[in-house]
Amino acid sequence: MILVTGGTGYIGSHTVVELLNEGFDVAIIDNLSNSNIRVLEGITAITGKKPLFEQFDLCDASLLNNFFKNNRVDAVIHFAAYKAVGESVASPLTYYHNNLVSLMNLLYAMSSYNVPALVFSSSCTVYGEPDSLPVTELAPIKTATSPYGNTKQICEEIIHDSIKAHPKLKSIALRYFNPIGAHESALIGELPIGVPNNLVPFITQTAFGLRDCLKVFGNDYDTPDGTCIRDYINVTDLAKAHIAALKRMQKSENESGFEVFNLGTGMGSSVLEVINSFEKTTSVRLNYIFADRRSGDVVKVYASTDKANKILGWKAEKSLDETLLSAWKWENFYRKSIAN
Ligand code: WQD
Repeated sequence: MILVTGGTGYIGSHTVVELLNEGFDVAIIDNLSNSNIRVLEGITAITGKKPLFEQFDLCDASLLNNFFKNNRVDAVIHFAAYKAVGESVASPLTYYHNNLVSLMNLLYAMSSYNVPALVFSSSCTVYGEPDSLPVTELAPIKTATSPYGNTKQICEEIIHDSIKAHPKLKSIALRYFNPIGAHESALIGELPIGVPNNLVPFITQTAFGLRDCLKVFGNDYDTPDGTCIRDYINVTDLAKAHIAALKRMQKSENESGFEVFNLGTGMGSSVLEVINSFEKTTSVRLNYIFADRRSGDVVKVYASTDKANKILGWKAEKSLDETLLSAWKWENFYRKSIAN
């Protein structure tokens, strides 16, 4: 069985769908602090299967060990973590405690029950403002610009040191660029709680009429149209990379024990290009204004995906247009489903 922590979350739920579609048995542990249990209905509606689900916090070591004692876990995909950059600046100890203790409890349990493989959800945030583009996995890890980003860097180090001490353990860290969009069925998608921090959910909520206007945080950057550039990757493409990483470890191909891979499209898109793509693909006009820069924003970052292409045999396939349309379809499905 594959244990997916945080499996009712945005990327976790899309990964559970792909695991079930590939015939894996799946169990989810989630404390529902940043997701909704109704996501399980969406997963079952898409796959026809019902993963085992247990609601508890990974920071509770006794509950976690009990789970491993009562269930045969073959591998773990670890998503469960807090991930809001701004929130982490306001509440650093909450982020360090939650994101580090949950991982350490997981590693202790995996070691006690001889679980050999861990896929870890990491982030391109570890690169900060890169010195050169596209960013490769060999790019220097910069001083984190937020406690959230620092927890990702520290977690990678904790995993790497654990593997050196327990060579039977293998791990692959996947450094996400900007995950966006929703499953093509529109039955699952991104569910930000409160006002969205991220661009695409703010766009779809503005287009739906939940927000008056999108603020574009700065149009005076050193980029072709003055707005920041990111590598926006379709969430289903991202989910499929986790299957590829799992299979690589199950075939014992990652001899080094610990590997990292960038997960992006390899292309940069500016905020304005995203807005224009959204308007073109949905035929919905977006109300936006140019506002002040957001502190901490990186100007340009996009991935080199050569390593994931060559070694994982994985490549992002869906276009920006198609992905933004999927986000729009999900926003409409979700809003109508909660209205009823
Ligand atoms: C993208 C661009 C904003 C909102 C963050 C985390 C990263 C990862 C993904 C977890 C930027 C601009 C945004 C808005 C805007 N999270 N923007 N108006 O900051 O690249 O990455 O989310 O792993 O770790 O740092 O994503 O979507 O917030 O911003 O103009 O209302 O959109 O300035 O240029 P970001 P984002």
